[in-house]
Amino acid sequence: MGQNTQFRAFRVHNDDQGFRSGIEIISLSDLPEGEVTIAVHYSGVNYKDGLASIPEGKIVRKYPFIPGIDLAGEVVESSDPAFKSGDLVLCTGYGLGVSHEGGYAEVARIPAKWLVPLPQGLTLKEAMAIGTAGFTAALSVQRLIDNGVTPDRGPVLVAGATGGVGSISVSILSKLGYKVTAVTGKSDMSQKLIDLGAQQVISREEAFGESKGVLGKELWAAVVDPVGGSFTAQIVKQVQYGGSVALSGLTAGGNMETTVYPFILRGVNLLGIDSVVCPNPLREQLWQRLAGEWKPESALSQMIEVYALEDLPKQLSGILEGKAVGRSVISLQK
Ligand SMILES: NC(=O)c1ccc[n+]([C@@H]2O[C@H](COP(=O)([O-])OP(=O)(O)OC[C@H]3O[C@@H](n4cnc5c(N)ncnc54)[C@H](OP(=O)(O)O)[C@@H]3O)[C@@H](O)[C@H]2O)c1
Repeated sequence: MGQNTQFRAFRVHNDDQGFRSGIEIISLSDLPEGEVTIAVHYSGVNYKDGLASIPEGKIVRKYPFIPGIDLAGEVVESSDPAFKSGDLVLCTGYGLGVSHEGGYAEVARIPAKWLVPLPQGLTLKEAMAIGTAGFTAALSVQRLIDNGVTPDRGPVLVAGATGGVGSISVSILSKLGYKVTAVTGKSDMSQKLIDLGAQQVISREEAFGESKGVLGKELWAAVVDPVGGSFTAQIVKQVQYGGSVALSGLTAGGNMETTVYPFILRGVNLLGIDSVVCPNPLREQLWQRLAGEWKPESALSQMIEVYALEDLPKQLSGILEGKAVGRSVISLQK
């Protein structure tokens, strides 16, 4: 593939003419250096991609820039012996779509060490339907298991349940035999969440419970929490003795005001979840699980929509407004 090879990309600009974005024809020389050139088949839409598409998002460090923190495709060329032409690969996190041109282009060029070989059991489309959000769900489940949360310990609360991290968490946990209570702000989505595997669906207000006092009823063995903010502060009061909260997100805000009591009187574990620089051995192990015994079939069959690159702006605004349901996959194939 020569430096003049042309292809479509969704780019954001921020210069004298202001902030703007759209689909453009660019060439390979517009991409940063990297050992592996990939024909991108699919990308996904994550909350962080929404932030990358707005001026106040504080995600993108240089312009013009191609967002997209996830991609899956076929290797075209590789100067690293670990990959060869025709290999199917995926990439989530690291600098992709943040400091390094991302997945919203027909071609990407990225460092070999960021790539994961597509595990057997997943298609490229399924890998992107899972994407960073689903990988974060898997990482959350893994950390809960590592901290002793077994299905017999009691119900697991999943917040932001119709979102990317939430819906795939519901799917994985129910498949593994956990009793899942899903929290959603979308009252019309209850049946969908039951079909996904939730045993019970409650509103955000119900999940908040009594707001007074430093401790509440011990309701949950564990919580998958991509919501953050005041939600987390409230929910840690309701976690059972020795239970755990896997905290990955900030949809409800980046600040939380809590007390030490759930932690020092009930031994509650607050587990920080980071998918971006998750070490490669664990990353590859979790992708193997996502392709095998943890494969979130109920989410993949019910909560996925595929869109063309032209539809991307609408999907990016939707996720920023909290309207997203499940996962949106962007097809880069014409
Ligand atoms: N730590 C990491 O490595 C990592 C990786 C991936 C994502 N994240 C973060 O995790 C969060 C979720 O990501 P996502 O891709 O799942 O986003 P998403 O698809 O937009 O899902 C978020 C869901 O949260 C709920 N929600 C929205 N606003 C809320 C509010 N004010 N209070 C309570 N719930 C609210 C909504 O679900 P309901 O309507 O069903 O309640 C929404 O669908 C984001 O903050 C993202 O940046 C972090």
